[in-house]
Amino acid sequence: MKIDVVSLFPQMVQPVLEHGILKRAINNGVLSVGLHQLRDFTTDQHRMVDDYPYGGGSGMILKPEPIFKAVESLSPKVDSRVIFFTPQGQKLDQRLVEILSLERHLILICGRYKGVDERVRFKLVTDEISVGDYVLSGGEIAAQILIDTIGRVLPSAIGDYQSAQDDSFSQDLLDHPHYTRPAEFRGMKVPEVLLSGHHQKIQQWRYQQSLDRTNQRRPDLSHIHTVGNVREARTGDDETK
Ligand code: ADE
Repeated sequence: MKIDVVSLFPQMVQPVLEHGILKRAINNGVLSVGLHQLRDFTTDQHRMVDDYPYGGGSGMILKPEPIFKAVESLSPKVDSRVIFFTPQGQKLDQRLVEILSLERHLILICGRYKGVDERVRFKLVTDEISVGDYVLSGGEIAAQILIDTIGRVLPSAIGDYQSAQDDSFSQDLLDHPHYTRPAEFRGMKVPEVLLSGHHQKIQQWRYQQSLDRTNQRRPDLSHIHTVGNVREARTGDDETK
């Protein structure tokens, strides 16, 4: 997968590529990330990327020409997705991460200032994405979030594929609690079932914990735990047989 980032501060995105799973994905050749300075696509002496808004008002607007030139220089194919980060966009969640992780080429446009000329959205952008209901000072942190979340679900990026499958959200449930040694720490004991070696009981306990956590912390995922409860009820039935 290739991800190109167009930004006024491309070096903000670099550190996230240099550690852990993302570094491994890049070294393995599973992921390639290109960082592009938007100012390199200006033609004027001052390398201006912004201008005053038509109709007046406060704040500057990113001009269309440098963004069009930058995206065109990346040879987008018909199936390339051109993503613009904005709080007005579709909210990023694990489902969208997984959909985007199947693409071959993403171009990420990081906005700054008051906004971007609407013709960029109209003609270039295929997806507008928000990383949450708050306003960042630019799209670079959103780009880091998207690259990180995609990078870690790419095949072979995560050493243990099952581990990604078990993540919070990947099965539409929050993750269950985890413990490691020692079995007792400052008076707090690891739940007995985890020490039992009984694989099926451990799986049931983990599933129940995931259901309980989802119900307690994220009742908004209700369609999910309704399904979960049905499954849960069935498990109970089976046990009595
Ligand atoms: N740019 C500014 N705020 C943002 C947000 N919440 N998500 C994505 N891009 C943004």
